[in-house]
Amino acid sequence: MTTDDLFTPQASSAAQELRILELRAQISHHDRLYYDQAKPEISDREYDSLYRDLVDLERAHPELISPDSPTQKVGGRPQGAFVQVRHLVPMQSLDNTYSAKEITEFVERLQRLLPGEEIPMIIEPKVDGVAIALLYEKGHLIRAATRGDGTSGDEVTRNIRTIGVIPAKLHGKMVPDLLEVRGEVYLPKETFARINAERDEQGLTTFANPRNAAAGTLKQLDPNIVAERKLSAVFYGFGAFEPAADDALPESMEDFFHALQGWGVPVNPRHWTARDAGEVMVAIRELGEIRRGFAFETDGAVIKADLISQHARLGSTSKAPRWAIAYKYEPEQAKTRLLGITVQVGRSGVLTPVAELEPVFVAGSTVSRATLHNEEEIARKDLRIGDWVMVEKAGDVIPAVVKVLNEERNGLEQVFAMPTQCPVCHGLVTRIEGEVAVRCANPGCAAQTRRRIEYFAGRSAMDIEGLGEAMVLQLCDAGLVDDLADLYTLTAEQLLPLERMGEKSVSNLLASIWGSRDQPLWRLLAGLGIPHVGVTVARTLAASFGTIDRLEAASVEELCAVEEIGEIMATAIYGWFRDPAVLSLLEKLRAAGLNFGERDPKGTAPAADGPLKGTTWVLTGTLSIPREEAADLIRANGGKVSGSVSAKTTYLLAGEEAGSKLEKAQKLGVKILTKEEFRKLIDETHRDP
Ligand code: IVH
Repeated sequence: MTTDDLFTPQASSAAQELRILELRAQISHHDRLYYDQAKPEISDREYDSLYRDLVDLERAHPELISPDSPTQKVGGRPQGAFVQVRHLVPMQSLDNTYSAKEITEFVERLQRLLPGEEIPMIIEPKVDGVAIALLYEKGHLIRAATRGDGTSGDEVTRNIRTIGVIPAKLHGKMVPDLLEVRGEVYLPKETFARINAERDEQGLTTFANPRNAAAGTLKQLDPNIVAERKLSAVFYGFGAFEPAADDALPESMEDFFHALQGWGVPVNPRHWTARDAGEVMVAIRELGEIRRGFAFETDGAVIKADLISQHARLGSTSKAPRWAIAYKYEPEQAKTRLLGITVQVGRSGVLTPVAELEPVFVAGSTVSRATLHNEEEIARKDLRIGDWVMVEKAGDVIPAVVKVLNEERNGLEQVFAMPTQCPVCHGLVTRIEGEVAVRCANPGCAAQTRRRIEYFAGRSAMDIEGLGEAMVLQLCDAGLVDDLADLYTLTAEQLLPLERMGEKSVSNLLASIWGSRDQPLWRLLAGLGIPHVGVTVARTLAASFGTIDRLEAASVEELCAVEEIGEIMATAIYGWFRDPAVLSLLEKLRAAGLNFGERDPKGTAPAADGPLKGTTWVLTGTLSIPREEAADLIRANGGKVSGSVSAKTTYLLAGEEAGSKLEKAQKLGVKILTKEEFRKLIDETHRDP
């Protein structure tokens, strides 16, 4: 029987089910040959055809979709996605500074926090690559993961194993029982130049900078491509660390670097030590002079307290450790011409002026556009079309026009005025009282729709692989989608005629759209465009209400009762759910089978009842179980979990290296539990999530 026969009305659903099972078995078999044995038996084309048949059948019979289907699995060949893994210890980021004054303040803060102590410091290059965590168990590399959101990232072990400088097994003596070593994967600058030259020659798009190239390479599904690109890496820190039985943790970062070298793990080519702010600045200057000679791009220096015993006592804020700081070098600037100013329409209708520049090479890549933010900003800089301007890369990435070169004016430059009509739908443009932005007031505006869909599909919301800007534009232009819900009715027949959409990409896209229906509620909430609701608030709302229905039913007072939600936000959320257009969109999404919270893992919504009912918890520091697990335990027992300490907090659960939240809780007189006390409390009242 062929799959085509199955789409006739006569085909029994038992026959279809059989064919689905058969296809799944075949695809899994070919996946194993392809991935594990690198010995494919069929061509990509044949594979695509099997895969597409399965996607089509499953689309026709969503009730037959099961989580073990190859179409549902991330990490399989088709989706181009990776399995998510949780870091043993969250991967934090660093506070940034640009001035010597702030370096002095950093050193003074260290001294204030550890009065009377010597605080030796270590300075090293800040490598501009992709952060990575390697897990070595008894010296064997068992897992590699990208930083992701800091809590969990993509599991990229197979790709990492292709990087020659990363040892699969630690050498030497005193190999730790467990080591989660952190560092940066980078594409050497020379390799970057070579790859881009080759891509130019082949008519392929070039990478914007080495970091993008490294990130893109790590995301490759085919480890052979990764191996070809010749990535490299350096390591500078650790998460979990259990030394060998007869060994101890290193005393200092410097000792740690030596240990890493002994185990064959690559470290930064240079580091400096310093005892005061003056010595730190000397090191920063020296590094500034030699940094262009390193194989990797570096945009700064990292200054760390050297003694590891001091790290725990210095603690960290929610984002970054207090024992380290990054000093960023002045970004490079380049001179170019402002050729014109175009206007973009955002997802909430905001009009943003964009500088169209004569292309110019600055800090590692070519810049031809830069956002000008709003009309006031243009007036403040007195920017006129035709001006010569200086551009730089903000944070070494985002192009920005920094100033006008007045002396270059010839009098022919033109003053820019924001349009009074939307450049896309020609609808009315309004200025909201008290805001600098002007907006297109037509919610049906094609540009807004497009941006809304882009955002919905983006990484901070539904994270739909393959549905980027260009794809959304095609879908909108072809009239295939008018709102978010239309994504879920797309068919292969509609997608195949689109540009650069082969059978494989079509089935991949359909599979990832389809798969996104099961994304957790917070992702849906983050993507809907509810005013004031970004990722953090979306997570809070999902955790507090559990389902869209409960959130929709919540009164302004109930919304305000949630920590972090003030009256303005509560009123906006309440109002959004009262808009008939919103309600009809939600109904369409519900009918498409999206997870409205009901399918979230147990424990995300607080249990209606339980021994912790009525209590609000804040978690901080390193606990003995992953933080989400602790949060689930609390919710399963009826408690609420919140992100920040306030007068409404009942308990602070404080692990090791607890920082500012602990201080705040102490000030407010919030009851503080150690992880042992928490364990005891849970054991006594236990209810599994
Ligand atoms: S130490 C708790 N050292 O820069 C974070 N980070 O902008 C400790 N980075 O997330 C990080 N070079 O990915 C450290 N020599 C270095 C680094 C470095 C690059 C990255 C790292 C960090 C990011 C912060």
